[in-house]
Amino acid sequence: MFQIDLNLPQHQYNIFIEAHLLNKISEIISHLFKTKKVIIITDSNVDKNYGSVVKANLIDGGFDVQFIVLKPGEESKSLQSLEYIYNKLLDYSANRDTLLVALGGGVIGDITGFAAATFLRGIKYIQIPTSVIAQVDSSIGGKVAVNLERGKNLIGSFYHPHAVLIDPEVLRSLEDRFFFDGMAEVIKYGLIKDSQLFNNLMSYKTKEEIMANIEYIISTCCLIKKEIVEKDEKDIGERMLLNFGHTIGHGIEAYYEYKTYTHGEAVAIGMYCISGIGEQLGLTAPGCNEKIKAILQQYHLPYKAPVNVDELLEIIKNDKKVFDDGLNFILIKDIGNAYINKVKLQDVSIFLKKGAECNE
Ligand code: GLY
Repeated sequence: MFQIDLNLPQHQYNIFIEAHLLNKISEIISHLFKTKKVIIITDSNVDKNYGSVVKANLIDGGFDVQFIVLKPGEESKSLQSLEYIYNKLLDYSANRDTLLVALGGGVIGDITGFAAATFLRGIKYIQIPTSVIAQVDSSIGGKVAVNLERGKNLIGSFYHPHAVLIDPEVLRSLEDRFFFDGMAEVIKYGLIKDSQLFNNLMSYKTKEEIMANIEYIISTCCLIKKEIVEKDEKDIGERMLLNFGHTIGHGIEAYYEYKTYTHGEAVAIGMYCISGIGEQLGLTAPGCNEKIKAILQQYHLPYKAPVNVDELLEIIKNDKKVFDDGLNFILIKDIGNAYINKVKLQDVSIFLKKGAECNE
């Protein structure tokens, strides 16, 4: 089993990574917590695949287990779902010792974390992520949130889990499109911090080869994320590097009204586009853009999308990460070496229009 310890001034927790870890959940929880009362928040797809395994394992371990099952999808990350969760927690007589478990992808992780942060002013929760993005990114680092109708993640906080339990085997049940969607975030880690990871990813030609190396892949990403979060828990500096490809990616997702591209696909397009801009401005080493295109194609990800550049620019200028003095674009100097490049709001159009041809 890989174990990564995340050490923050106010909080410390472990990330456990092992194939078939789902069969050891009660053992790990018993070791970490005194409580016998566990409430699992999940969605109906994950419940269908893994609910009974998790339930049986916890009941065998002597736990009192309840489930709160949401509809799959982003719509569930809402204030209405949150109210539903709070009411269920009251129905199940949850108290300050009760342990919440987020069993699912990013939506479930984010809303469970938010519920844990706020119910009775804060109760413990753990993450059992079941998507690639959740396993390498969103389950780690304590970002919790719900969406408003006017935008994603507009209400949120930092509230860390007490453990993250990762079973890479669950990724086998993902449809290919969603598996490769998550691999875009894995590729991102190689691009921002680890050229060796990038080269290794280039060498895996099939999903089987990726799965044969999945514990190495996930633990490498988690280690990078741990190091970044330990340096910048509140996302005011180095943590922003994790947004490589995301400013344009979020713009692409919104431009297509969240119907055409998954998050990872849009980030893939964003990474290709921003590296093209970087090269044209002499801020990124020549050749990176072509390498990114090659790896995205190998991982069945798009690298460009037809857009009206002016409309996309309007969306990007209204990104929730805009500061008074501009937008922080993440660029790479070279593969494995990312940095923050602040662009004044009035210069964002000029900066991004350099990349218009990436989207032709
Ligand atoms: N998902 C980006 C972050 O945790 O900061």
